[in-house]
Amino acid sequence: MKFRLNDIMAMQTPFYYYDTQLLRETLDQLKRHAQGLPAVIHYAVKANGNPRILKEIADAGLGADLVSGGEIKAALAAGFDPQMMAYAGVGKTDWEIRLGLDQKIGCFNVESVPEMDVINQLALEAGRMAPIAIRVNPDIDAHTHRYITTGTAENKFGITLEDLPAVIDHAIALPHIHLRGLHFHIGSQLTLMEPYRMLCDKVNELQDYYEQRGVRFEIINVGGGLGIDYDNPDKHSVADFEQYFAVFKQHLNLRPGQQLHFELGRAIIAQCGSLISRVLYVKRNRDKSFVILDAGMTDLIRPALYEAHHQVQNLTSVATEQDIYDVVGPICESSDVFARNFSLPITQRGDLIAIRSAGAYGESMASTYNMQPLPPAHFL
Ligand code: LLP
Repeated sequence: MKFRLNDIMAMQTPFYYYDTQLLRETLDQLKRHAQGLPAVIHYAVKANGNPRILKEIADAGLGADLVSGGEIKAALAAGFDPQMMAYAGVGKTDWEIRLGLDQKIGCFNVESVPEMDVINQLALEAGRMAPIAIRVNPDIDAHTHRYITTGTAENKFGITLEDLPAVIDHAIALPHIHLRGLHFHIGSQLTLMEPYRMLCDKVNELQDYYEQRGVRFEIINVGGGLGIDYDNPDKHSVADFEQYFAVFKQHLNLRPGQQLHFELGRAIIAQCGSLISRVLYVKRNRDKSFVILDAGMTDLIRPALYEAHHQVQNLTSVATEQDIYDVVGPICESSDVFARNFSLPITQRGDLIAIRSAGAYGESMASTYNMQPLPPAHFL
């Protein structure tokens, strides 16, 4: 992403800074590489729900993957087509389900039988049919961080393969449920394509099985999760969509007329945003130097929560020599550390620091702990 330094220097820190041009280029490449697939790409709003970003993405013709009534409202306000909205989550409340029904969203991704029964009842009361996809837990290890893997039997998401036949029968029997498809999501920040290939095999197997029993699906939803290069945000500023879509082109046996749905968040927005902050102090202990920023884990929680690594860049230092620092925030928690033993050009009070690849799960996960204000957003 690009930085317009003159503008940045005049702004009060910390804030999120987004490169709109890079977002547009990312969306272009995304759509280009998906050509040849009957793809409907939903943007996972949880990654970043900033209204300007949502509008850019809605204008590009993507759908929206939503996990709350708040996200449904934000997606409607940004102009997403309700027919291209998928609403997921293990804990949908009644008002959220009613909102989805009233707005005629394209699909509820259903995670359990009790939830399906409630959707059926609320659809009956609304005088509607509820379009649903059943979220299947395909028991595939995505080889990602344990907090963001979702497709294995030991976590709360989806219906297990053993239970699936009975749950499908149940859905077909419910009078206000319209079973449209199957939904899968195996995890987030996947950089290897092998789990996606395994997912294709599993989907093919399930489709063959159900076809023999007279059940056909309009929609196969393979979720999201495509990872990005946190180590080299400039070299790989756009995710490898070509390699990703190629897996589905080569390995998935779709039926005529079937739609293939995707729900990508991080791969669309992560590289388009940085968290910009100022150095407050450089503090030296006996054998360590700390760069203390005015941004902390309240602005970007990923390092504290998932041991995630983001590149830290000093935008203003002109020093030619480097030093090793721990880059930390002002919050009263020992985990408020952005980077440990990190090499930066000699850094001093007032320098501007960019924490890179922060467009996804940065602003959207910000909190007000320690009564910190939420970080504002500025756009290039
Ligand atoms: N679909 C479903 C059902 C999901 O659970 C998720 C993400 C996505 C799509 C979008 O995944 P993506 O393409 O962005 O990887 N806060 C964590 C990531 C949590 C992901 C939750 N689910 C992080 O900062 O890494």
